[in-house]
Amino acid sequence: MDRTLRGVITHGGDVLLNRSMPIPVLTVIIGSTRPGRAGLPIGTWFAELAAERDDIELRVIDLAELDLPFLSEPHHPRLRQYTRDQTWEWASQVLASDAFVIVTPEYNYGYPATVKNALDTISQEWAHTPVGFVSYGGIAAGTRAVQQLKQVVTTLKMVPVFESVNIAFHAQYIEEGRFVPGEGTGAAATAMLDELVRLSVALADLRGGVRERLG
Ligand SMILES: Cc1cc2nc3c(=O)[nH]c(=O)nc-3n(C[C@H](O)[C@H](O)[C@H](O)COP(=O)(O)O)c2cc1C
Repeated sequence: MDRTLRGVITHGGDVLLNRSMPIPVLTVIIGSTRPGRAGLPIGTWFAELAAERDDIELRVIDLAELDLPFLSEPHHPRLRQYTRDQTWEWASQVLASDAFVIVTPEYNYGYPATVKNALDTISQEWAHTPVGFVSYGGIAAGTRAVQQLKQVVTTLKMVPVFESVNIAFHAQYIEEGRFVPGEGTGAAATAMLDELVRLSVALADLRGGVRERLG
């Protein structure tokens, strides 16, 4: 299969960028880790949708499997003086990604501690990556968690996209362990993926600089 993407970005009829580049690696992070979590079927549905695209190389990280210990490094992550192999492994998985989607529930109007820990454990590796969110919950559809997360990810120099997937009363869409989306959810996911690919193209040079410096 051809692993290159023709990245074209236009604005008002002007071509701002037109180049061939490797297909961006999109990593989907499943943020909840509870036994019986809804995050697994919802994250699996989203990953399957993303896997159908030929402009994305998909990876999935399930934080339950990654099982990062809580704040286990003695130094500020910005220094990259990681002492644990598991931290270096996590850092290299993030460094190899061009874009992220974080699948998150809302816990007490916030996001899960597991997501914060995954973000906080490393630092520079996240820089200049676009990030989108799939959220779920009650009437607010997890949006309060997403608003808080946007504040955190920009501190890591990630670039949150406006497009998002927010699923209200998600439990009604889960049947026998599978998420069957309601009307409009698939279209929202496609719009978010389109924007993530577009921003991956736009940020490719900055991202390449990060890889050169840290890789
Ligand atoms: C500790 C906890 C706090 C919760 N707080 C909220 C909340 O603030 N807003 C909301 O919409 N749902 C809340 N819920 C309900 C979750 O939306 C629901 O349990 C969801 O399935 C959690 O995601 P998970 O199954 O992937 O862990 C809470 C659930 C838990 C376990």
